[in-house]
Amino acid sequence: MFITFEGPDGSGKTTQIKAIGSELQAKGYDIIYTREPGGTEISDQIREIIMNMKNKRMAPRTEILLFCSARAQLVEELIRPALDAGKIVISDRYADSTLAYQGYGHGYDQDVLIQLLNFATGGLWPDLTLLLDISAEKGLQRRLTNQEEWNRMDDYQLAFHERVREGYHALAAADPARWQRIDADQPAAIITRQISAVIEKRLVQSIGKRKNPD
Ligand SMILES: Nc1ncnc2c1ncn2[C@@H]1O[C@H](COP(=O)(O)OP(=O)(O)O)[C@@H](O)[C@H]1O
Ligand SMILES: [Mg+2]
Repeated sequence: MFITFEGPDGSGKTTQIKAIGSELQAKGYDIIYTREPGGTEISDQIREIIMNMKNKRMAPRTEILLFCSARAQLVEELIRPALDAGKIVISDRYADSTLAYQGYGHGYDQDVLIQLLNFATGGLWPDLTLLLDISAEKGLQRRLTNQEEWNRMDDYQLAFHERVREGYHALAAADPARWQRIDADQPAAIITRQISAVIEKRLVQSIGKRKNPD
């Protein structure tokens, strides 16, 4: 099973993945965890170019292709082999981030982006995507108050982050079988419990399907 976490920076993706990952491991599941952009040596080098505050002149098209390059390497080197080996892969962001940020945020054509993403990933889309939904202000506020490293993506204006949020809502509405929206403006432990219930249900369903193939 391939599970991805989406939502703005500051929505709690990393916090939740850590909690859920250890919970699933304790239950005996074999988990591979990765983050985007990055996750392999080559992808991490591309991440550094994308995030570096020195690269403020980066054109959106360059940004799109760099994200796709990092992702192509990640799928090939890590995600595909892990899924083929029967592991659960959890990714902190994936292809939907490109649709939300570069598509809805920067206004690039969704159909073109989907073609690019299908090329980059070999057509691999997640089985389950958790959307940690929070207002753009609250997400950015968390990053500021917790004095986290401020990257080039945070520096886009609030209106951009609001478009991204609307984009996530549209993506989730278009494919409710894959997406699950979680209210991220709640205490972390409550969010963990909600996500845990969703994943547990999916795992039981997928085991059921394997036992009773139709
Ligand atoms: N439910 C929550 N309520 C309040 N603060 C949170 C919550 N979840 C995470 N945080 C804090 O907000 C910041 C961003 O969380 P993080 O997990 O890094 O988000 P993301 O990976 O989505 O950017 C961190 O400082 C984290 O401790
Ligand atoms: Mg994070």
